[in-house]
Amino acid sequence: MKTLILAGGSGTRLFPLSRSHFPKQYLQYFDGESLFQKTVRRALLTSDPDEIAVVTSNAHRFLAADQMAGIGMKGRILVEPTAKSTLPAVLFGVNSLMDGDEDTRVAVLPSDHLIEEGDAYIHALKRAEHLSQDHLVAFGIVPSSPHTGYGYIQPAEEVPGGYRVGRFTEKPDQETAQQFIADGCFWNAGMFLFSAHLLFSECRRCSPDVAAAFERPVDEAYRLTPAISIDYGLMERTDHAAVVPLPCMWSDVGSFDALSTVLPSDSNGNTVHGEYLGIDGKNNLVFSNRLVATIGVSEMAIVDTRDVLLVCPKAEAQRVGEVVNTLRAEG
Ligand code: GDD
Ligand code: MG
Repeated sequence: MKTLILAGGSGTRLFPLSRSHFPKQYLQYFDGESLFQKTVRRALLTSDPDEIAVVTSNAHRFLAADQMAGIGMKGRILVEPTAKSTLPAVLFGVNSLMDGDEDTRVAVLPSDHLIEEGDAYIHALKRAEHLSQDHLVAFGIVPSSPHTGYGYIQPAEEVPGGYRVGRFTEKPDQETAQQFIADGCFWNAGMFLFSAHLLFSECRRCSPDVAAAFERPVDEAYRLTPAISIDYGLMERTDHAAVVPLPCMWSDVGSFDALSTVLPSDSNGNTVHGEYLGIDGKNNLVFSNRLVATIGVSEMAIVDTRDVLLVCPKAEAQRVGEVVNTLRAEG
């Protein structure tokens, strides 16, 4: 199978560590590697080096190339003229990877997740490859909270290796998410596997405006296409979807709180990047290039960068985007 890595997003939830010119997937805090580099390594478990492509923006193409070189990969980098969310990125990428062969199977991987890449991961991809004969395959994570930032997948009847998707709902409200969990839904892991043929035919049916745009040369396609994610534009609308459970550690590292759970911590539960002296306190996340000292401070995220210092309770860390939005609004 081939692999397409989506690396064009510029999330805001790890601000001020992540910036629009240096998004989360490129931060090298994970055993000295970035989530992007780990994703490339993961892609190599199921694809040969020349079967892997990365779709990203002009602004991040050299960052992506440097980080691929950092792990010994030359890398095929596809540059989008503008960011139009994930459905256009997938069409662009698959078009280029398939080399005219409509039966090409492509695994689509987000570049900003941490996933335990053992046997369970490889087996799930193999099952999905099998199911991709006639399904658009998503991967299901057993939910641990009614998180509203994920897609929810209601499994229907069993098929070999997984389930047919009864219903796919992207980013429901909290109450609906709670109901989905009670009904035994999965979270959508954000990874997909399908044949080029089924992707294009379902796209023509579910998002004809996007499909029509991509009949044109790339620059024109990007000018014409609406911006829409694969979740809204395809997965919510298709009736050819299947879900394969992904029973391994999975995190989209979507907040400082999540970051502190995936990075090592000391005996006081502090996750420290730099030097930290904590008196009477525990479970803090501290990132700084200078010594940080606190007294009686617990459960806080303290993120000190050259130009911005962020301090917030870890429990409120998913609100960091509000800071970015406010700063943007104020110019
Ligand atoms: N090339 C390119 N162009 N990549 C993009 C673009 C774009 O315009 N927009 C986003 N990406 C990349 C991001 O870098 C990320 O790796 C991936 O596509 C997913 O985009 P996100 O913006 O992070 O999506 P999300 O987190 O809101 O939701 C998705 O992931 C969840 C799991 O983390 C959905 O698939 C949800 O259903 C899913 O639960
Ligand atoms: Mg995400």
